[in-house]
Amino acid sequence: MLICVPDVLSKAEVADFRRIMDAASWEDGRSTAGAQSAMVKKNEQLPPDSDVARALGQRVLSALTASPLFISAAIPLHIFPPLFNRYAASDGHHFGIHVDNAVRGDRLTGLRIRTDLSVTLFLSEPDDYDGGELIIEDLYGSHEIKLPAGHLVLYPASSLHMVTPVTRGVRVASFFWLQSMVRDAHARSLIFDLDTAIQALVERLGRDDPETVKLTGIYHNLIRYWAEV
Ligand code: NI
Repeated sequence: MLICVPDVLSKAEVADFRRIMDAASWEDGRSTAGAQSAMVKKNEQLPPDSDVARALGQRVLSALTASPLFISAAIPLHIFPPLFNRYAASDGHHFGIHVDNAVRGDRLTGLRIRTDLSVTLFLSEPDDYDGGELIIEDLYGSHEIKLPAGHLVLYPASSLHMVTPVTRGVRVASFFWLQSMVRDAHARSLIFDLDTAIQALVERLGRDDPETVKLTGIYHNLIRYWAEV
C-alpha cells in the first residue's frame, strides 16, 4: 500500500531546509548503498553522520511525530535517522531499479532496524525539475510518484523501486526507513483503514457515540494483538 501524507513540512520549513542544504557539502550517494544498489545508484547525499544531516533529520522526525496520518499509517516503532539526497540534471543523476536492504544499522546511535517501510519526503517542487519520478512496483503494477515539496510517500520497503533520470533542474529529498510495530503489511493496512473509518465517524457522530467507542476499542485491541514493541 502506498500512502501519501501531505504538508509534513510547511513551505517555510522547506525553504529553510533548502537554504541549509545548499550551503552544505555533499558526497557520492553510494556510501549508503548495498552491493546491488550501488551499481545502479548515481546521486549525491549529505554525509549521513554530518552535523547538518543529523540536525535536519531531527527536524524531520519532530514533524513526523506531529502528523496523525503518518503515525496512523506507519505505526512506527523505530525510525532510522533521515538521510538527504539530490539528483541534478547536469550530472545525469538517477537511481536504477533496486530493493532496499532488509536491515539497517546506524553507526552513531547503534540503532538497528528491520526496514518495513521506506519513506521519501520531497524537498523540491515538481515544477522545479523534469524526470526524477519515484517509480514503485507492487502487486497492482507500477506507480509514478512526484509530490509537492513538504509531502511524503510511505511504501513497503520490500518493493522494487527506482528514481528516473532528472533531465532538468535538481530534485532534493529526504529518505529513510522505519520499523513498524505491526510487521505484517496486510494487518497494518487493515488497522489503517479501520482508523480512517473511525476518524470519519467521529467527525459525524462525535467521540462519545457508543458504537464509535466500541470501534475505537477494537482498533486498540487489534494493535494489542498484532504489535511487537
Ligand atoms: Ni531505495
